[in-house]
Amino acid sequence: MTNPLLEMTQIQKSFSGVQVLTDAGFSLESGEVHALMGENGAGKSTLMKILGGIYRKDGGRVRVSGVEREISDPREATGLGIAMIHQELNLIPHLSVMENLFLGREFVFGRTGWIRWNRMKEEAKKWLEQLEMDLDPSVKTGDLSVGQQQMVEIAKALSLEAKILVLDEPTAALTNREIESLFNVIRSLKKQGVGMIYISHRMEEIFEICDRITVMRDGETVGTRVSSETDMDELVRMMVGRKIKNRYPRNPVMPGEERLCVEGLTRKGEVKDVSFSIRQGEIVGLAGLMGAGRTETADLLFGVRKPDSGTIRIDGHEVRIRRPEDAIRHGIAYVTEDRKQEGLVLPLSLRENLALPNLRSLSAWGVIHRQKEARLTEETVETLSVKTSGPEQEVRTLSGGNQQKVVIGKWLATSPRVLILDEPTRGVDIGAKEEIYRLMDRLAREGLAILLISSDLPEVLGMSDRVLVMHEGRITGQFDKDEATQENVMKAASGGEV
Ligand SMILES: Nc1ncnc2c1ncn2[C@@H]1O[C@H](COP(=O)(O)OP(=O)(O)OP(=O)(O)O)[C@@H](O)[C@H]1O
Ligand SMILES: [Mg+2]
Repeated sequence: MTNPLLEMTQIQKSFSGVQVLTDAGFSLESGEVHALMGENGAGKSTLMKILGGIYRKDGGRVRVSGVEREISDPREATGLGIAMIHQELNLIPHLSVMENLFLGREFVFGRTGWIRWNRMKEEAKKWLEQLEMDLDPSVKTGDLSVGQQQMVEIAKALSLEAKILVLDEPTAALTNREIESLFNVIRSLKKQGVGMIYISHRMEEIFEICDRITVMRDGETVGTRVSSETDMDELVRMMVGRKIKNRYPRNPVMPGEERLCVEGLTRKGEVKDVSFSIRQGEIVGLAGLMGAGRTETADLLFGVRKPDSGTIRIDGHEVRIRRPEDAIRHGIAYVTEDRKQEGLVLPLSLRENLALPNLRSLSAWGVIHRQKEARLTEETVETLSVKTSGPEQEVRTLSGGNQQKVVIGKWLATSPRVLILDEPTRGVDIGAKEEIYRLMDRLAREGLAILLISSDLPEVLGMSDRVLVMHEGRITGQFDKDEATQENVMKAASGGEV
């Protein structure tokens, strides 16, 4: 028997006394796409960071092509042919795309130290084209969309021409087209014998692209299955340890008075004459393709962008929203799609992040009421089952899905009347998704008006009482629950008449 390309066995790791990995491992063949699945906080990214030399393991073995290795820093991992696409973006926003791509290994003329910009540009173009990206390599990375930045991150990993490629939730911010391009690249790398580790919470992707699946739970490997010999039910049972009965637990109530009413909302080039209303107790879905104007509409409601015209009424009173503080004062809460850039202050603790938008209710005469603050943290951790070692843990070190729960938690604590959720379950595991859905259902039944923006069509259809569809800045469809079918919504989203 030949050695597998990579073998990790009985890996252990703890952070300041908290055991995060107890017995984790799997093996990877060359030309294989191997999925790592597991709930938020199961330890997937930590295991990969050990492979990448970012963390040192406390115990266990790593073998690359049969040879045991201590990978003590990222450079050593690169030397062994290991490249990583991290869950969180690592690009430097004020550098250009090509500078980011070749950071630390710029093309230089002999020993002169002069950078060969043209050569670098050509090389960058080549890697971007592999991903079917038509992008000028000299633009600043910070000016790109999150999805494009993710693609640059992928191109960067590809350009290392690794034997082992780790993709940690690469598709969370990508459009369907971008995902297709990525999958084409993965298929061609497979043919070249590259072994890939693929982490994602999206079941459909796993079954489409992966050969085998290893499931982790609480820092341990539960088991490995061949994709064609397992199904979603079995994987969910392995991950969660229970069966999920009802994927979309929505029990609608009779809606009450009109909570939010928007008329003729317009902003040049982005949102055109958008009108709709949400009553107390209603969950209204906002569907549409990427770039249809959904996030822009939410930004207008929250004062992140300013409208050219249109009115917003809350509980029957017209309100002027010029900046987010106005929106918060009028009872609007906004969970943005980009938790890394807007949702959280990463170097601060869980407690501090939760307190931030709630300083008014937590303080008196400018002094923060510590007990109230502690209770808020405790309640949030409890209701949302945030997996954390305690209130002082930096949110930077929480797992991706748990960070998302903290974003939702901090807004809920503002006791809002209108809650806008933009892609609330992106990167969230299937068990935590269910918890977020239950929470939405409960909040709606308590009288909140909820606007749910999501690209996950089954989620929009499953959780919304009514669905609005946008296309090119306009509302092109409006469906009650029983008319809101995948087909109707897709048609309206692509601009077709319904
Ligand atoms: N640097 C760190 N310091 C302290 N705790 C950490 C650190 N990194 C990770 N953890 C903890 O280790 C656990 C596993 O985290 P990890 O990021 O590996 O989960 P994951 O499986 O990738 O989850 P997700 O699906 O949400 O990305 C979490 O409970 C997290 O809080
Ligand atoms: Mg992770």
